[in-house]
This record gives sequence, C-alpha cells and structure tokens, in this order.
Amino acid sequence: MSTELLSIRHLTTDDGVTVDSVFAGLSEQSRYLRFHAPMPRLSGSVRRSLLALDGHDRTALVAEVPGPSGPLPVGIARLGRTGRTQGEIAIAVIDEWHGLGIGRRLLTDLAELAGRSGYTLLHAYVLPENRQVLRLLESVFPGATRHWDGWVLQVDCPVNPEMNPRRQPRDSAATSPRPTVSASTRTH
Ligand SMILES: CC(C)(COP(=O)(O)OP(=O)(O)OC[C@H]1O[C@@H](n2cnc3c(N)ncnc32)[C@H](O)[C@@H]1OP(=O)(O)O)[C@@H](O)C(=O)NCCC(=O)NCCS
Repeated sequence: MSTELLSIRHLTTDDGVTVDSVFAGLSEQSRYLRFHAPMPRLSGSVRRSLLALDGHDRTALVAEVPGPSGPLPVGIARLGRTGRTQGEIAIAVIDEWHGLGIGRRLLTDLAELAGRSGYTLLHAYVLPENRQVLRLLESVFPGATRHWDGWVLQVDCPVNPEMNPRRQPRDSAATSPRPTVSASTRTH
C-alpha cells in the first residue's frame, strides 16, 4: 500500500458515504480510542453530528488514496470551534492504513488550516493509554501540553502564529498567499 498519491480535501455535508466508509475501516479498539466509548455501529445522531459541517466553526479534512472504483477515504481529522480563537480537534485513520504517515499529514494540514483561520489554540481529548496520538500531537504541535480533564487527558496544542495571517505584520501582507491546506487539497 502506498500513500504517494494521498490527497486531502475538505469533508462536506454530502460526505455521508465517506464517513461510513472510514468508520467501517476502524477496528473496535480504534473506535474506542476515537469516541471514548464502545461503538459497534455509527448511530444516526453521531453520524449527523459528524456531517454537521459549516466550513467555519465546524470543518473536517478527509485523506484519500486512489482506489479501484474511485478515491478511497482512509482518514478524517476534524476541527470544531470552542471559542473565538480556540477549537477542538479529533482524528481517525482506518487501521489498514496506520503507520504510513496519514495521521501526521492530516494533523499538519489541519494545523495549517487552523492557523489561517485565526485559531491560536487547539485541544484534543485523549484516553491516557493512547500513546500514539499523544506522541503525534506533541510532534505536530511543538509546545503542546497535557493535563487531566476527569479521566481523559486534554492536550493543548498551540497553533504556530506564522500560520495566522491576522497576526502577521502589515508589511508581510504583500507576500504570496499560502496554498489552501496543501497543493492537492480540493475545497468543496
Ligand atoms: C492516532 C492515529 C490517527 C495515527 O494515525 P497514523 O496514520 O497511523 O499515524 P502516522 O502514520 O502519521 O504515525 C504517527 C506516529 O505514530 C507511529 N505509529 C503509527 N502507527 C504505529 C503502529 N502501529 N505502531 C507503532 N507506531 C506507530 C509512527 O511511527 C509515527 O511516528 P513518527 O511520525 O514519529 O514516525 C491512528 O492510530 C488512529 O486512527 N487511531 C485510532 C483513533 C484515535 O486514537 N484517535 C485519536 C483521538 S483524538
């Protein structure tokens, strides 16, 4: 399996099949780590909430690889606003595609998107045994800190201010704009 042709695009409200497909590719353990509860099936209400995207306060990115009958979704990362410049992030990559850099790529693109959208701090709620995502978050977001929030860890991830156009000095406004999310991103 190769991620050479991985592309990232915005998830849309019409992406129900994409959400179903990524959920179906998550093992029982991955679903538990993502949703913090056993999740044998995707309930209608959770599915609706995963698709309640407005491109401003609730956005998500989906990673896709070419498949025999079109793009195959392999992971989704989402960002929901929790304050003027703060948001919550969550991510899941289907098990068959773990360990290939897809999670890192999704989070890196999400961090860039957050920076361009004026976010300064993102937080993720992580089960304490989920060492993999703790390591990944702390690597993608230098300066990230963790603290207990009840029985889960809250990881606070500072957004690189250079990615936030509103915080750049006026003179830098003339420099070339950053590409949206990444060269391969399609915004729908
Ligand atoms: C956490 C998760 C998104 C990582 O996705 P991924 O595509 O496997 O991540 P990457 O391939 O980018 O790897 C990230 C790091 O974890 C390591 N890693 C990934 N899979 C691994 C595995 N099976 N065993 C050991 N290390 C692994 C990689 O070495 C990498 O470290 P590096 O970048 O320093 O080399 C994925 O494991 C997942 O979906 N887990 C279940 C859902 C979840 O836990 N969500 C988090 C809730 S917020």
